[in-house]
Amino acid sequence: MAWSSTESVCSSKTVYIQLSVLLLLSTSIYMFLYSRIEVKAFTIEKISDIQKSLYRKEGKVQIGQGIRSHPDTEQGYNRSELLLTLFTSWTTKAEKYICHNNTIRNWLEFKPVIQPILFTNETLLKEEAVEKGWDVLPIRMSGRGVPILKYMYRDVMEKYVSPFYAYSNGDILYSHTLIDTLKAVMNSSYLLNDKPIMIVGRRTNVQNVTSEEAISGKIVNKTANIRGKLFTVWGEDYFITSANYPWMSIPEVIIGRRAYDNWLVLNARKRNHVTIDATITLLGLHQTTKAGNSEGFKADNPGYNHNLLSRMYHRLNYDVGCTSCIEFYTRYHDNLIEILKRNISKSCFPL
Ligand SMILES: *[C@@H]1O[C@H](CO)[C@@H](O)[C@H](O)[C@H]1NC(C)=O
Ligand SMILES: *[C@@H]1O[C@H](CO)[C@@H](O)[C@H](O)[C@H]1NC(C)=O
Ligand SMILES: *[C@@H]1O[C@H](CO)[C@@H](O)[C@H](O)[C@H]1NC(C)=O
Ligand SMILES: *[C@@H]1O[C@H](CO)[C@@H](O)[C@H](O)[C@H]1NC(C)=O
Ligand SMILES: *[C@@H]1O[C@H](CO)[C@@H](O)[C@H](O)[C@H]1NC(C)=O
Ligand SMILES: *[C@@H]1O[C@H](CO)[C@@H](O)[C@H](O)[C@H]1NC(C)=O
Ligand SMILES: *[C@@H]1O[C@H](CO)[C@@H](O)[C@H](O)[C@H]1NC(C)=O
Repeated sequence: MAWSSTESVCSSKTVYIQLSVLLLLSTSIYMFLYSRIEVKAFTIEKISDIQKSLYRKEGKVQIGQGIRSHPDTEQGYNRSELLLTLFTSWTTKAEKYICHNNTIRNWLEFKPVIQPILFTNETLLKEEAVEKGWDVLPIRMSGRGVPILKYMYRDVMEKYVSPFYAYSNGDILYSHTLIDTLKAVMNSSYLLNDKPIMIVGRRTNVQNVTSEEAISGKIVNKTANIRGKLFTVWGEDYFITSANYPWMSIPEVIIGRRAYDNWLVLNARKRNHVTIDATITLLGLHQTTKAGNSEGFKADNPGYNHNLLSRMYHRLNYDVGCTSCIEFYTRYHDNLIEILKRNISKSCFPL
């Protein structure tokens, strides 16, 4: 989201000490939580190791290789095909009913390759989602009642094993291009190194999407072609990360409030993670409703994330966290998706 701070670079000693203490603290919390996940869930790192060794041997990975089958398989499908654990959260709002109803059906279409999950504590909403085939998890950690992003990743990573995990806003519809893009990333040599991966992209806005216009991924693609408008490079509505992404080192930003999206991308760039802009090959159709295109700005505590981040970092140049500043991008080449390095403009620095 277009929002930048003009605070000056900080050079005071106390701040460096504070930052070091914070870094130490978050590292130890991360290590603590990580070791818990490791014991519980056969270690996510190990799985990506298996994938990597497969890469080295055969030059490519088959989706699902090395993925532990999960005890929670009663639903009758083959979890080892799971490519992406896709989660979101929303609260019941009458004016968003069709939008969320569309999302529920749309994400289900990609099961079992994609597993949709709703975080909610609302009893009725939980029942509806479960009845329609989604998994539901409680919101364990929140700020002002709104889920904290990093703990959503932690909770799904404890329960599901997949090469990719993603938070997505709940008003985004996808097409098969989501799977195709992720498979191309899996197939790409950029995975050969150990670096965490973050994939984001611009969304395509469509106003007042009807149930008919969202009936399948194919129709979603058609709807986007007919009425869609690509949104700005500042909006990021989904964050697909690899299983080794260091989510526990991320500040406790909450969803649906400005600033966190661009901050996540700028942080990924700063930490030299592999960042991929999937805009060209991955359709994320945003169902624009009456609330408009900047809901995060109108919510309660719109400044929550910025206030949190500005207490931790004295230079917050959100502009360098927009999609046009991302290191790699995807595109079609002979009907295949390839991943290319981008010439990043000077305005994308300093980080
Ligand atoms: C599950 O899917 C994988 C990959 O598609 C396949 O190799 C395996 O045989 C399947 N297992 C069962 C029990 O269907
Ligand atoms: C909600 O989605 C279901 C399919 O999942 C569809 O049959 C129903 O018509 C939708 N309801 C509305 C109000 O759009
Ligand atoms: C949601 O419910 C869980 C218990 O299942 C509780 O620990 C948590 O605090 C609740 N979260 C919110 C935001 O009410
Ligand atoms: C995977 O990569 C190989 C070699 O780079 C290429 O020949 C193949 O077409 C790719 N497959 C997909 C689905 O991208
Ligand atoms: C969408 O619906 C609102 C009323 O809910 C209406 O004001 C607006 O014109 C509609 N937009 C389109 C493109 O149909
Ligand atoms: C989506 O629409 C575009 C443009 O019409 C088309 O080239 C592409 O093949 C479609 N993709 C899918 C998965 O239907
Ligand atoms: C990137 O920049 C180099 C040198 O400035 C140029 O040769 C190359 O064609 C550029 N690539 C793209 C994709 O613009």
